[in-house]
Amino acid sequence: MTDEQPYYRVKYSQTTITELMVPSYANFGGKIHGGALLSLMDKVAYACASRHAGSYCVTVSVDEVNFLAPVEVGELVSLHASVNYVGNTSLVIGIRVESENVKTRKIKHTNTSYVTMVAKDEKTNELKKVPGLILEDKEEARRFIEAIKRKELKKRYAHEFDNVKAEETLEGNLSLLSGQRCVLNLDEAGL
Ligand SMILES: CC(C)(COP(=O)(O)OP(=O)(O)OC[C@H]1O[C@@H](n2cnc3c(N)ncnc32)[C@H](O)[C@@H]1OP(=O)(O)O)[C@@H](O)C(=O)NCCC(=O)NCCS
Repeated sequence: MTDEQPYYRVKYSQTTITELMVPSYANFGGKIHGGALLSLMDKVAYACASRHAGSYCVTVSVDEVNFLAPVEVGELVSLHASVNYVGNTSLVIGIRVESENVKTRKIKHTNTSYVTMVAKDEKTNELKKVPGLILEDKEEARRFIEAIKRKELKKRYAHEFDNVKAEETLEGNLSLLSGQRCVLNLDEAGL
């Protein structure tokens, strides 16, 4: 351990929030709003990140939110959060969301997402270095390595997309609209 920061175990900050899905969380179709789940995900990510960092944290980005199955009113949703990775001032929190039907005891996995947060000093609002992470089994090591790879891919993707955008003109890309379910209805001034 080469820096002056303490190192903490992954287990130290692991956090689970379980919440009953009440009717006020439902959308017009009677299922739970995706936004209600996103809010709970942000909450559990904050609890886990701030426990590890020992300070105030803010959300930087949320990667991969795909809702794999609908959640019903009356189900119990559990959000399991762990610190998967720490950088200098940032942490990646892995969140597994599961929904349980208490009558049938059936549990479904609704999504897994990765939330990046940074630690901040509450008074100065400056970024703060976070403690290191002690990886105690192969699973924890695998998650840390995957987070490094995800971070590299995200950087590469952002770079590639910037290049693509820089080369783009609307006229040069009009052929992409052919066969799509849209109608281009611009007047001459619009083009
Ligand atoms: C996040 C924020 C501090 C980044 O600012 P910045 O000038 O790019 O700072 P840095 O480049 O030094 O990045 C700080 C850390 O965030 C990470 N980071 C920045 N942008 C990121 C992104 N889009 N995805 C993942 N990590 C990111 C960097 O990798 C760095 O991590 P490290 O210290 O562990 O190496 C700034 O964009 C911010 O304050 N955003 C608002 C966050 C907020 O208020 N959220 C609440 C929601 S309203």
